[in-house]
Amino acid sequence: MHQHLEKVLISEEEIVKRSKELGKEITDKYKDEKEPPILIALLKGSVPFLAELIKYIELDIEIDFMDVSSYGGGTESTRDIRILKDLDRSIKGRSIIIVEDIVDTGRTLQAVIKILENKGASTIEVVSLLDKPERREVEVEVQYIGFEIPNEFVVGFGLDYAEKYRNLPYVGVLHRNYY
Ligand code: PRP
Repeated sequence: MHQHLEKVLISEEEIVKRSKELGKEITDKYKDEKEPPILIALLKGSVPFLAELIKYIELDIEIDFMDVSSYGGGTESTRDIRILKDLDRSIKGRSIIIVEDIVDTGRTLQAVIKILENKGASTIEVVSLLDKPERREVEVEVQYIGFEIPNEFVVGFGLDYAEKYRNLPYVGVLHRNYY
């Protein structure tokens, strides 16, 4: 375990096992659809989870990436989100699955869903490795959740503190001395 961590919350084995289950769920859900979904991963935290999950989706999916800036502190959310990196291709009429590492307040997702709706997506679902329901400020539907976690400072498997710890192969709780 990394020495800055208090404990490992979710092991690499557990993440792999759960990713397999979610991959199967997504495969089953979309296997009879005319066109397979496009997975849109939100940079940067979702990258390790995307890489794990797509191994277990047995469909001819496509992937794309978006990067959005965090909302400015406080009040009404969605207007304050800016697109730092937009999609490479049109998603008009396509089924989308947004891939996230964590849903916290829900504001990022809420804004991104709105953006993708405006781009003409036919359906939008969300898969997230982690869900922190205690922190939610706006209601968002997350169809596929890896793990529900308590309100602790987690890093690893994509999640950072000051851009570090994304490369840890597990999710752990950062020790107080380090944030
Ligand atoms: C994190 C995370 C989600 C968002 C969740 O991204 O990856 O996108 O925050 O928070 P919310 O539910 O309160 O909106 P961050 O902006 O830290 O970018 P990163 O993925 O590059 O670390």
